[in-house]
Amino acid sequence: MCGIVGYVGYRDCSDVLVKALSKLEYRGYDSAGIAVFDEGKIKVVKSKGRLADLEKKMLKQGALKGTAGIGHTRWATHGEPSDRNSHPHSGARVTIVHNGIIENYREIKEYLQRHDVKFISDTDTEVVAQLLDYNYNGDPLATIVKTVEKLEGSFALGIVFADFQDTVYAIRRESPLIVGVGKDENFIASDVPAILKYTKDYYLLEHDEIAVLSKTGVEIFDINLEKIEKELKTADWDMDAAEKGGYEHFMIKEIHEQPTAIKTTINPRIQNGLPDLTECGITIDTLREFKQIFVVACGTAMHAGMVGKYTIESLARVPVIVDIASEFRYRQPLVGEGDLVIIISQSGETADSLAAMRLAKKLGAKTLAIVNAKGSSIAREADMLIYTHAGPEIAVASTKAYTVQVAVMYLFAFLLAFAKGTIDEDECKRLTKLLSDTPKIIEKSLDKTKKITQFVSTKLIACDSLMYIGRGLDYALSMEGSLKLKEISYIHSESYAAGELKHGTISLITDGMPVIAVATQPHLFEKTISNIKEVKARGAKTIVICTDGFNVTDDVADYIITVPKTDDILMPLLAAIPMQLIAYYTSVNKGNDVDKPRNLAKSVTVE
Ligand code: F6R
Repeated sequence: MCGIVGYVGYRDCSDVLVKALSKLEYRGYDSAGIAVFDEGKIKVVKSKGRLADLEKKMLKQGALKGTAGIGHTRWATHGEPSDRNSHPHSGARVTIVHNGIIENYREIKEYLQRHDVKFISDTDTEVVAQLLDYNYNGDPLATIVKTVEKLEGSFALGIVFADFQDTVYAIRRESPLIVGVGKDENFIASDVPAILKYTKDYYLLEHDEIAVLSKTGVEIFDINLEKIEKELKTADWDMDAAEKGGYEHFMIKEIHEQPTAIKTTINPRIQNGLPDLTECGITIDTLREFKQIFVVACGTAMHAGMVGKYTIESLARVPVIVDIASEFRYRQPLVGEGDLVIIISQSGETADSLAAMRLAKKLGAKTLAIVNAKGSSIAREADMLIYTHAGPEIAVASTKAYTVQVAVMYLFAFLLAFAKGTIDEDECKRLTKLLSDTPKIIEKSLDKTKKITQFVSTKLIACDSLMYIGRGLDYALSMEGSLKLKEISYIHSESYAAGELKHGTISLITDGMPVIAVATQPHLFEKTISNIKEVKARGAKTIVICTDGFNVTDDVADYIITVPKTDDILMPLLAAIPMQLIAYYTSVNKGNDVDKPRNLAKSVTVE
């Protein structure tokens, strides 16, 4: 996690760095700092807290004046959030910002301490700064190479050397880093939105590539210091995508962007009414080969995989195992040739998902990545790739990235079922058509459920704990609803398979405790209603999210939220909307920082 930026050009560097960092705050926001060449010296200002706290400090201390420097926004891993542990970190002649984790930092620290190097922070990053300084021989590139040879772990580093004015150096291993290219100005950043205000052109640094940025140019070297030519890429996002565009929060903006995101993701993959993923490396013939599928992901992305599991198993009759990436990688999974491992990831950089994918490849499975961030590590290393086109998702709580992942899982499931012969062409076309109609229905669902979810959220803000229940696809969806609510409202919440509740968890139901039940599947409806009655009989306040036309009586539900109808299998796409809105409004009503919930960061590049 953490966001890093760097700038060399003609503008006020402090201003550029702070503006660029504001677009990366989703990556971490417990402290921030910048270092700028100011009157020939590297000067640093850093502060615990949000970027706004850094700006206040800069106002108080007087802004750093200069046209080159580096900046950082932190999600603490080593050492508590504090001024002392904030980046940039310095040795005598070098200052750095870092995203990633240095796994062998203790060893290096002890070695340097034996050579009288003093440390002032608890971070792994300071160790890199001091090692660079220790190795420094007047040649920045040779110093960087000598230093990174000793590092284990992941890093994207922005580096400035006191002797090399107005030059920014950068190198990455595992952690993402791009080099933005402008006219008489150049940038480094952890992610594209940071540079969009200034340029859309960028290079994607690969592992162990080193970039040297001056005002007039960018040079890129491999680890042997051979100069390399790279393809200049152009971002297809515009500035508006990274702005709130009149909405109060990114989260609500992104909730409203879902119809467009799904359309943009799905429509180009439909040919003659059937899913067509050939451009992603997936053909009917390849699909026929797979005997078993694993879906490996974390958090919300894993929940999208759960919807995929229920859909694939019921339509294509292929067994699907959904795994949490951090478990999969260490549990000696029974994966091998003939298996397909699907990795779902918005950022494409989640450390556990990336490691799980590498393991699956090593074990002989074919890997398919479903990824939103273009050019990310998971996207580049997978055998097959389906990009979701959600655009940048800035709010930490994922919404549009989730629904596009679910939409892609549907498309994939329909094609797989068709390939396996478990559905015929007409049925495949019917389902595909209904999927492509969902954006319009989601728009309706947004309008229809706004008021009631706002109202329901007022009933939740005072509670300490609540429960989500559902069966089948509704259970898969309720997992996501529960995660969304807890991460931004800070209310404890659990999701449970409705039929499983009575095997222990029902003892948690107390008078007035809210239970949100999802009941969109006709064949499970009566069963879910019975489970709702069980909790109601024990005092629960029940909120039922169901399909239009379902008969839910007042003795079952205290509040009913209905969503428009489509095919049963697609209902999670529609029922996700009130779930997201309930979480959003509850967080707003509690006065929380909706887009930047405590303790979290968007891109989890540590284990
Ligand atoms: C929750 C959320 C997380 C992510 C998880 C995986 O709203 O966003 O649970 O889904 O950290 O991230 P990606 O999809 O980037 O691999």
